[in-house]
Formats: sequence, C-alpha cells, structure tokens
Amino acid sequence: MHLPSRFFCIAALLSFSIARSIPQPEIRWIDCANAVPEPTTSSTFNTSTFNLTDLPSTLHCGQLDVPMDYSKPLCESNMITLGLAMYRPVNPKGVLFFNPGGSDAGVIVAWEVALNLTRTFEGLLDFDLLVIDVRGTFSSNQLNVSLDTLTPLLGPYPTTQNEFDIAKNASATAIQSWINNSSPLGIIQHVGTKEVVQDYEQVRKALRYEKINFLGASYGSFRATQYAATFPHRVNRFVLDSVAPHGRPFFQQAQDNIAATNRALQRADAYCMNNSSCPFYGKGKGYVLEAFKQVLAIAKQAPFFLPDCANTTFCYPYVTDLDIQTIMLLNLGGAPDFPNILDGIYAALNGNGVFFADGPPSLEDVVAIPLLCNDYEFERDFGTFQASLEEGLKNDITGVGQTQAWLIQLMCSAWPFPVPKSKLLPVDKKMLLVTADFDPSAPTEWTTFGWEQAPDSALVVRHGDDHVSFLRSPSLPPSGGQLLTSTTTVPDQASTKITKAFLNTGILPGAQDSEFASVYTPGMTRKPISDPYSVPTGALAGDVDSGNVTVEVPY
Ligand SMILES: *[C@@H]1O[C@H](CO)[C@@H](O)[C@H](O)[C@H]1NC(C)=O
Ligand SMILES: *[C@@H]1O[C@H](CO)[C@@H](O)[C@H](O)[C@H]1NC(C)=O
Ligand SMILES: *[C@@H]1O[C@H](CO)[C@@H](O)[C@H](O)[C@H]1NC(C)=O
Ligand SMILES: *[C@@H]1O[C@H](CO)[C@@H](O)[C@H](O)[C@H]1NC(C)=O
Ligand SMILES: *[C@@H]1O[C@H](CO)[C@@H](O)[C@H](O)[C@H]1NC(C)=O
Ligand SMILES: *[C@@H]1O[C@H](CO)[C@@H](O)[C@H](O)[C@H]1NC(C)=O
Ligand SMILES: *[C@@H]1O[C@H](CO)[C@@H](O)[C@H](O)[C@H]1NC(C)=O
Ligand SMILES: *[C@@H]1O[C@H](CO)[C@@H](O)[C@H](O)[C@H]1NC(C)=O
Ligand SMILES: *[C@@H]1O[C@H](CO)[C@@H](O)[C@H](O)[C@H]1NC(C)=O
Ligand SMILES: *[C@@H]1O[C@H](CO)[C@@H](O)[C@H](O)[C@H]1NC(C)=O
Repeated sequence: MHLPSRFFCIAALLSFSIARSIPQPEIRWIDCANAVPEPTTSSTFNTSTFNLTDLPSTLHCGQLDVPMDYSKPLCESNMITLGLAMYRPVNPKGVLFFNPGGSDAGVIVAWEVALNLTRTFEGLLDFDLLVIDVRGTFSSNQLNVSLDTLTPLLGPYPTTQNEFDIAKNASATAIQSWINNSSPLGIIQHVGTKEVVQDYEQVRKALRYEKINFLGASYGSFRATQYAATFPHRVNRFVLDSVAPHGRPFFQQAQDNIAATNRALQRADAYCMNNSSCPFYGKGKGYVLEAFKQVLAIAKQAPFFLPDCANTTFCYPYVTDLDIQTIMLLNLGGAPDFPNILDGIYAALNGNGVFFADGPPSLEDVVAIPLLCNDYEFERDFGTFQASLEEGLKNDITGVGQTQAWLIQLMCSAWPFPVPKSKLLPVDKKMLLVTADFDPSAPTEWTTFGWEQAPDSALVVRHGDDHVSFLRSPSLPPSGGQLLTSTTTVPDQASTKITKAFLNTGILPGAQDSEFASVYTPGMTRKPISDPYSVPTGALAGDVDSGNVTVEVPY
C-alpha cells in the first residue's frame, strides 16, 4: 500500500491549486472476510449465521483514503480512511448511494443485502448499491467518545442561567475529551456534512460514475441535499425520505418535535380505540394520554424500582419521571410498537415500571453528537434555550416534554469550532421527497419545509406512523435471518413502491390522494397534516407489533 509522503504534503502546499493535489481517488478493494461489520444497536447482524469463507460474489468491501480536512492537501498527517461496501450485480444500470442517517452504520447494509438478510432493496438490485460508514463512525475512523462524559447533560433541562452554565461546562468537558482522545489530531472538527459530501464525491470519482442516484434517509437526506447543492451536475435520481431540512431554525425544530410527539401519542390512542387487545380498549378518546400522565405522576412521587437493574451497568434501578419521558420519546421514535407501549403504560399503572427502564447512552448515540455539532448553527445562550423550552412545554399535550432539538442545543452548547451558517439550500433538481404524517423523529413539517426549497420535486405523504417510509418494507420473518432496523414483517407500503419506481425510471409520480399515500406534484400545495384519529391504524399504515422484541430507533 502506498501512503503519500509528508514531503508530498509540503510540496502540495506550495502549489496553487489544492484540488490538483488530491489525486484520482482509488478504492482499495479488500477481502470482506477481513472487514466484517460489528453488530450495531440498530441491527441484529449475526456473523455466525453465515459462512465467512463463502461470501456472495456480489459483496465488495473497500477502503478509500481521503483528506481529513479538505481545505488542505491529502498527506499522512491529513488523511483518514473511509470504510465502504457495495452490493454489485453483474451488469449494474447505475449506482445508488444509500445513507441510512445519523450515525447509523452504512456498510452493514450492503452485507445484509448481499446475504439476503433484508428485502428492503428488492426491486433495486440491478443497481450498484454503495454504502459508506460516514466519517467518524464504525469502519471510517471511529471517534473515541467516552459514553459517560455526556451523562451530566442527561438530567432535567436547565431553567436558570446558573443551571445552563453548568450544562455548558459539562458540554465543554465532553467535547474537550473527544478532542483529546480521538485521532488523528483535529478530526472532531472535520466530521460534518461539508466533509461527508466531499467524501461521497471522492467515492463517485473512484467508481467512475458520471452521475449518481441517492437515497437519503433521515439525516441522510440532509447529506444528500447538500451533495446535490454542492455537485448539481452529478445528480441523477435523488430520494429524500423523512427530511432533515437545511435552514430550519432550532426554535422551530423544537416546536416541530413537540407537535410530532403530540401526534404520535395520539396515534397510540387511536390504535387503542380500535384494537380490543389494548388494555385501555373501550375507555374512550384521550385515555392513553391521561394514563401516561398518571404514570409520570406516580414516578414523580416515588421512582419505580427495578430489582433486575440493580448492580448492572446497562440499566438504572430507579425509574424517575425523567426516565419515563426519555423512554417514551425513544419508543415513539423510529417504528413505534404501539402494543408494547400500551402494555408498558398499563404495567406501570399497576406498579411495574420495567418498560421505562433507562440506561446509559450507546456509542452510536454519542458519536452522533459531534457529527451534528459540526452542522448546526444556533445561538448558544440561555435566553434562546429558555424561550424555546417555554414555548414547547406550553404546547406539549403529552407530558413527554423533551425534544431532540433541545438535547442537541445543550450538548453542542460549548462547541468551540466554527460551523457553516444555517441557511436554506435551494435545489432545482427533480427529486422525490417522502414523509409520514406521524413520524415523531423527523416531524413531517420538516419535509414540507424541505419541499419548499425544491420547487421541481414531488412530495409523497404517507398516511401512517414511523420514521423513514422506505424502511417500512417487507422484512424476512425472524426465523429467516436477522433483520434490518425493523424487526417485524410489515407489508409493502404504497410510498415505497413510488420511491422504487422513481429510482428505477426517473419519472416523478403523478398527483394522487389515496388512503395510504398522497402525492403532490411540483407547484401544488400540501394539505394540512392528517388528524391522528382519522388515518387508519394497522400494518398498512406502518404499525408494528413486535411482541417482546425491542425495536431500535434509527436516527
Ligand atoms: C447468532 O447465531 C447463532 C447461530 O444461529 C446463535 O447460536 C447465537 O445465539 C446468535 N447470537 C446472537 C447474539 O443472536
Ligand atoms: C464454508 O464455505 C467453504 C467454501 O465454500 C466450505 O468449504 C465450508 O464447508 C463451509 N463451511 C460451512 C460450515 O458450511
Ligand atoms: C439471495 O437470493 C437470490 C435470489 O433469490 C439468490 O440468487 C442468491 O443466491 C441469494 N444469495 C444468498 C447469499 O443467499
Ligand atoms: C464554568 O466554567 C468556568 C471556566 O472553567 C468557571 O469559571 C465557571 O465557574 C463554571 N461555571 C459553573 C456554573 O460551573
Ligand atoms: C485534554 O488535554 C489537555 C492537555 O493534555 C488537558 O489539560 C485536559 O485536562 C484534557 N481535557 C479533558 C477533558 O480530557
Ligand atoms: C479512547 O480514549 C480513552 C480515554 O478516554 C483511552 O483510554 C483509549 O485508549 C482511547 N481509545 C482509542 C482506541 O484511542
Ligand atoms: C447489589 O449489590 C449489593 C452489594 O454487593 C448487595 O448488597 C445488594 O443486595 C445487590 N442488590 C441486588 C438487588 O441484587
Ligand atoms: C378502525 O377500524 C375501522 C374498521 O376496521 C376502520 O375503518 C378505521 O379506519 C379504523 N380506525 C383507525 C383509527 O384505525
Ligand atoms: C391489535 O393488537 C394486537 C397486539 O396487542 C396485535 O397483534 C394486532 O395486530 C392488532 N390488531 C390490529 C388490527 O392492529
Ligand atoms: C412477552 O414476554 C412475557 C414474559 O417474558 C410473556 O409472558 C408474554 O407472553 C410475551 N408476549 C408476547 C406477545 O410474546
């Protein structure tokens, strides 16, 4: 393997064009048996279920050296290595980049596709499918972030200037420890989307595709949009699913989060009204929200005690009202399992708080923070935080009282590096944007906001629950292997068919307004968000019933 020398680095500094100093990128293809992804919290990938010496010929694993800091030349001290994997059919009709969002593992998806562990990409398997672990995660120069540095920030939200200052100091300590412990030196400030889109461009060049197709899920849509705005002539068919928009002020994002959580718990209520297996069946509209508030009140008086969590490191033995809020928000996110949530509330009302067992954050959760801090510009003062918190709590009808926006605001409050200005990112490409009415993780308002910046694009509104419509496609039954993200079998969604048709043909769908999906073509106006009680519940609307299986939350 050839490493560019330090001399090369200095020589390049003297040249006029830094761009010229990044040579044609070349992927190092490696034996996949030596690059097996670790299981992650959002996947139950199990290496003992397949034969490592007999991997499918469609699976390709690679590494690509890229500059850590793109404003400087590539050289040994300014280089990181990206891990990537592809599912490669014999005669691909083009390349499809997939980004699952947040700090979610990418490479593992290519494995799951090649090993037939997921049917999510069915209908798209004549594309070259490219996934990378975004820089700072998994096989792409994983950051070293200790899990406990953030714990002081997981308490109640600060409500005074002094409490805010304490939180900000905790943020400063956490960030400084990541800076100290991650390598190469300086990496923490170069794991933002502005670098990630350059990484994707390097991969495109290395694969020698003129244009790419891109399926960006959740935060992957933020990245795909920025790629499209940065390299417009490389854009072929782009789908943004569960949009994390550019330029949406944090104040507004938090209010959107609250509105989405309200709708999600109302959906649980609607589900219960319509399902005789619900322990609160027949109690009437709004009962689930009242029951949840009662659980909060009980825990406020005295935390639930969980003997099974005593003396463990993965769950806390006392469940406080704050834990209950945290766990409810977590469970409403991703693919909420309403039967499980409803049974959990019921058990807590009867003294058993095990559903609300909380525990320390996972590595993926923590790694996501520096990625996000690199992207988000906002006022880092108490007044701004307080105004958003007060407005949000005023509109919170559930008692959940937490938002991802506030958490990010606190965790990034002492971010010491410059971040790009928060601004709208208009894209005049013919893209497809997809949202679900009751997505609590990426409020559907965000997709509408993103659509306003993409006037030539179509908007698909799926009428139902869950984050990332595309992932709500058929998975294998648990006996058939390990599953991607959602651990249950849900039928094919109307919106998923539309997504796949667009990726396959490049033709935007026509307008429609049907039970499970509405499509708006460029120039139309989106109707108001559906009433949580008027859209059908059940499997076709995305509802999950995973029995006792925990459904992990992708972000
Ligand atoms: C992985 O699969 C093997 C063989 O099927 C099984 O024995 C083992 O329990 C599985 N491990 C996990 C963590 O699920
Ligand atoms: C794994 O694959 C190799 C090569 O095809 C084969 O020789 C071996 O028997 C397989 N092992 C198992 C456990 O199936
Ligand atoms: C996956 O399924 C396809 C189509 O059914 C089949 O051709 C392929 O051999 C399978 N691959 C593996 C690794 O089982
Ligand atoms: C925060 O840190 C600064 C500087 O280290 C210190 O002066 C200040 O007292 C700290 N504030 C609080 C509330 O802990
Ligand atoms: C980071 O490293 C500096 C210098 O080595 C040290 O003074 C500081 O205490 C470290 N901070 C943290 C939070 O690890
Ligand atoms: C990560 O940081 C910790 C200190 O918090 C250090 O002990 C450990 O060696 C580091 N790990 C790596 C892989 O750099
Ligand atoms: C936890 O450990 C302590 C000390 O070893 C012991 O006294 C206590 O009984 C344990 N608690 C439970 C619930 O196992
Ligand atoms: C409740 O069930 C009825 C009959 O199956 C159905 O028409 C209606 O859409 C359902 N409502 C909800 C909110 O699921
Ligand atoms: C009703 O709830 C049960 C679990 O409590 C679930 O298995 C079933 O699929 C639900 N029925 C409908 C129509 O959603
Ligand atoms: C869930 O687990 C409990 C205890 O382990 C068991 O009694 C119950 O039948 C399980 N429910 C389902 C739907 O599998």
